[in-house]
Amino acid sequence: MTDQHDAIPDIDPFALFAEWFAQAQDSEPNDPNAMALATAKPDGRPSLRMVLLKGYDAAGFVFYTNAESRKGREIAANPCAALLFHWKSLRRQIRIEGLLEEVSAEEADAYFASRGRASQLGSAASDQSRPLDDRQTYLNRVDALERELAGAPVPRPPHWTGFRLAPASMEFWQDRAARLHERRQFRQAADGSWTSTLLYP
Ligand SMILES: Cc1cc2nc3c(=O)[nH]c(=O)nc-3n(C[C@H](O)[C@H](O)[C@H](O)COP(=O)(O)O)c2cc1C
Repeated sequence: MTDQHDAIPDIDPFALFAEWFAQAQDSEPNDPNAMALATAKPDGRPSLRMVLLKGYDAAGFVFYTNAESRKGREIAANPCAALLFHWKSLRRQIRIEGLLEEVSAEEADAYFASRGRASQLGSAASDQSRPLDDRQTYLNRVDALERELAGAPVPRPPHWTGFRLAPASMEFWQDRAARLHERRQFRQAADGSWTSTLLYP
């Protein structure tokens, strides 16, 4: 059996991510920036949820959240994390592993300021991941905060912030005919350069 071409080129992994992400933005029905974020509990058990990618460059992949949430507490204890994109429309997967670091206060301020007021109020009024007796309690907190602010800008709560995952490895998976799928794994060397290898699917 022979093959016509490699679907996953051996190029800079950030350029490849940008190419695939742009295609996902064109083809996914919603939230092409949705990604699963895996952290670890103190006992080593995995912990997983979706978040939205809000920026990326060679320094890493950024999402925003509440640092006092379950994920925030897990990250504070152990910054090792993994991200996963799955774009059904493209039959593609990207796995990214590395260390998380909180973004600067300036970065978090700028992103918080770019959000709609309703989202700002909703996140400022949420004790994310803590027990809630009744949904109405949360809605009342949103209303109370809006009244208290009397039209003033919503300040960013100090615990509402972003995290950047600096990747040590990135793996691209492409569906191919007859389940002869293709995987290319990129790893960062100590000098910062990236090398890649194909993996058996
Ligand atoms: C598509 C999607 C995107 C989400 N994006 C975010 C996000 O960007 N930030 C966030 O804090 N939670 C986001 N959530 C909610 C999280 O999945 C999760 O419920 C919440 O952050 C609490 O997680 P934790 O208890 O593990 O901290 C998203 C959920 C979905 C389904």
